[in-house]
Amino acid sequence: MISKEIESALNKQIELEGYASYLYLSMASWCDSKGLSGCATFMHRQSDEEREHMLKIFHYMSEVDGRAYAPGISEPPKDWPSVPEMFEEVLKHEQKVTASINFLVDLSIKANDHTTQNFLQWYIQEQREEEALMRDILDKIKLIGDGPQSLYFIDKEIETINKITEKSESA
Ligand code: FEO
Repeated sequence: MISKEIESALNKQIELEGYASYLYLSMASWCDSKGLSGCATFMHRQSDEEREHMLKIFHYMSEVDGRAYAPGISEPPKDWPSVPEMFEEVLKHEQKVTASINFLVDLSIKANDHTTQNFLQWYIQEQREEEALMRDILDKIKLIGDGPQSLYFIDKEIETINKITEKSESA
C-alpha cells in the first residue's frame, strides 16, 4: 500500500518517462529523414527503453495497490537545428528525469516508504548510466568537430555504440 502523495508523484514520473519515449521517437524520425541511420536506430532504442521505464512503474503500482494512469503526453518537437543540439536536449531531459527521481526518493524517505525507496534504486543507477552515455556522445561529437564530413563520422560513432549495446544486451 502506498500513500496518495507517492501514488501521485509516481504518476507524474510515468508522464515524464512517457514524454521521453515520444521525444526520442520524434528524434529517431528526424534522424531518419536526414539519412542518419545510426542515430535513428539509437533513438529508437532509447524510445523503447523509456517506454519500459514507464511500464515498470505501472507494474510496481499494481503490486503495491496503487493506481497508475496512462498519461496525456504533450507533443514533442519535430525538428532540431543540428545533431549536437539534439543530443544536448537529450542530456537536458535526462537531467530533468534524474532530478525527478531524486525528488521521489526524498518523498519516499519522508513517508517512511522503504518499498518505494527500494524500487527507485534501479532508476538511480539507470539515470547515472544514461547521463554518462549522453555526456560521452557529446564529448565525441566535440572531438569530431563540425567539418564537412562531421555528420557522417558522428553517425558512424553512434553506430559503433549501437553495436556495443546490442552485444551486451544479447550476452
Ligand atoms: Fe527513463 Fe532516461 O529516463
